[in-house]
Amino acid sequence: MKVLLSGIQPSGNLHIGNYLGAIKQWVELQKSYRVFISIVDLHAITVPQDPRELRKNTLELAALLIACGIDPKKSVLFLQSHIPAHIELGWILNTLTPVSELERMTQFKEKKERAGALAGLLNYPWLQAADILLYRPDVVPVGEDQLQHLEFTRTLARKFNNRFGKTFNEPKALIPKETARIMGLDDPTKKMSKSAPSPNNYIGLLDSPEEIRRKIKIAVTDSDKEIRYDIKTKPAISNLMTIYSAFSELSHGAIEKRYQNKGYAQFKNDLAELLVKKLMPIQQKYRELSRGKKVIKILQDGAKKASLVANKTLLEVKKKVGLLQ
Ligand code: TYM
Repeated sequence: MKVLLSGIQPSGNLHIGNYLGAIKQWVELQKSYRVFISIVDLHAITVPQDPRELRKNTLELAALLIACGIDPKKSVLFLQSHIPAHIELGWILNTLTPVSELERMTQFKEKKERAGALAGLLNYPWLQAADILLYRPDVVPVGEDQLQHLEFTRTLARKFNNRFGKTFNEPKALIPKETARIMGLDDPTKKMSKSAPSPNNYIGLLDSPEEIRRKIKIAVTDSDKEIRYDIKTKPAISNLMTIYSAFSELSHGAIEKRYQNKGYAQFKNDLAELLVKKLMPIQQKYRELSRGKKVIKILQDGAKKASLVANKTLLEVKKKVGLLQ
């Protein structure tokens, strides 16, 4: 069976961009891949985190992923910090990484403005490469913003193989066609983001129906009244149409037809109700899961399964590099 791996930070406010860009694909591909999903808590602390919030967000994210459809019977769901092999392989990969490559990463350049240029933020990409390469995945389904990290991972795999002999395959990024980059509701020129200054930027998977309706109502639109998909001249309505399309399975063309001669108000109203309808079952399942200790047990089981695979790869790598057993 082919292997799929992906990761997600427990930084709170999981939103429909994360869902449509990444999580939805993970759920769909569980049928045909052996799936590893890592909650990357060590990556989350590359920007300051309140310890209590981090613990809460980590458990919340695990429960939400399961509520979205990640099935622990089919997929391995685990915390990055439970598998020390990530750091060990990361360190080895770090010794093959030019500082200049780390410094030119878009995410580093953006985040250092907000969080300061801490070494952890600079070193983020080699830990991500280790997250991936330990499990020798065929595919890594991510949103478009992760492409640069994926390319960096592939380069490191190649570099390691050239120096120490064939060890890693070069995993392919799997980017969804329509939903690779969901834009902010308050600014369609920037991606929807957990760390946006205003919560009006995103629809959180745990937003209440009232919040969803309010946020869609005030979402930015374009100057004319037409419901037409044109990313260049109508970026705001095109983004809302992409969200509508992804949750309804209707094509952009079908949406245009449905809303011909109808204004933004009707379209927005229907979009809000669609989101409420699609997110409520996820929230219901999330609330059920949050009550017991089931999620902790799932993460413990996940760590056992993930460590078997990760430690095997790490042992092979250590031997190749010349570290004594
Ligand atoms: P993170 O936690 O920021 O985001 C998780 C996933 O959501 C996607 N995403 C989006 N997709 C479409 N539109 C958006 N507006 C949007 N915002 C976020 C991201 O592309 C991602 O797929 N560095 C990673 C976490 C990571 C990882 C890994 C991923 C660590 N190790 C190994 C894959 C494999 C990150 O910060 O994702």
